[in-house]
Amino acid sequence: MKSIKLLIVLVVLLGSCTTAKKSKPMENTSQKVVIAHRGASGYLPEHTLEAKAMAYAMHPDFIEQDIVLSKDDVPIVIHDIHLETVTDVAQQFPDRKRDDGKYYVIDFTYEELRQLNVTERFDPKTNKAVYEKRFPLWKSHFKLHSLQDELELIQGLNESTGNNVGIYPEIKEPEFHHKEGKDISGIVLEILKNYGYSTKKDNCILQCFDAKELKRIRKELGSELFLVQLIEFKEEEKLLEEYATYADGVGPWYKQLYSEKEGVIEISDFVQNAHALGLTVHAYTFRADDLGNFNSFDELLDFGFNKLQLDGVFTDFPDKAVEFLSN
Ligand code: G3P
Ligand code: CA
Repeated sequence: MKSIKLLIVLVVLLGSCTTAKKSKPMENTSQKVVIAHRGASGYLPEHTLEAKAMAYAMHPDFIEQDIVLSKDDVPIVIHDIHLETVTDVAQQFPDRKRDDGKYYVIDFTYEELRQLNVTERFDPKTNKAVYEKRFPLWKSHFKLHSLQDELELIQGLNESTGNNVGIYPEIKEPEFHHKEGKDISGIVLEILKNYGYSTKKDNCILQCFDAKELKRIRKELGSELFLVQLIEFKEEEKLLEEYATYADGVGPWYKQLYSEKEGVIEISDFVQNAHALGLTVHAYTFRADDLGNFNSFDELLDFGFNKLQLDGVFTDFPDKAVEFLSN
């Protein structure tokens, strides 16, 4: 009798896995999406394969990859162009810092980068974690990895689960790469194409903060991917019409979309204007441990999805945003 009960529980659990929602191609832009920002980075060190696998199991629509090139042109999944905020590079390679005191990804080969240990993001001046309630510093073992490794993880999970989670790569600091003699966009686009991502029908959104480079990706490099222009400054909001000539969406910081005076929130017309131009709006970064003046994460998500009318959010806590949208 006991074993029958166990079987029933297992079947119910498996059922909940296999009936999880399937992600949709970006052609259907009416559906709101959740983007796992640097993976499930609220729970495990950002941009590790472990954080990506955990994010995958939370059923987001997309998982994000920030990309920087190594000395030997391997695209590394890491947020900063330097290494000392998430690795032990200062201990392993003390002589390899530049004059500004930073250790640049681009100065290390892929083999050297693989030797580094990765941890939760910290301030190298104080050695304190940026988010102190997250995964403890220097516990367990995490490593850097290539874009190819991550694409194989996500595509492998898509095959083994039958789900279809998308990727959301970001070209980091293209001007810096150009000055170093590297065409990061060209290299990344070629890899994406080799893994089956080249049109809007493929489950991939390519993002960049550098407008000149994103325009180049569309016009000169001829990419047909869904492109999102990231923005961070108020003055960039005036450029929506220009962005609409080459991008499919925009990615603002959500805090630039409203103002608050004496407890009264005024929402700007940015999202409305973007939508009128046919642009999708995915805003960053929603964090359950950085609520500002909101009383709960659900309240913040409600503000983002329902008041700001965002089409998607980047979040360090994809499980909570998926849960919010399912209610
Ligand atoms: O790319 C959008 C989101 O990730 C915000 O930017 O600085 O975390 O890469 P960042
Ligand atoms: Ca990013």
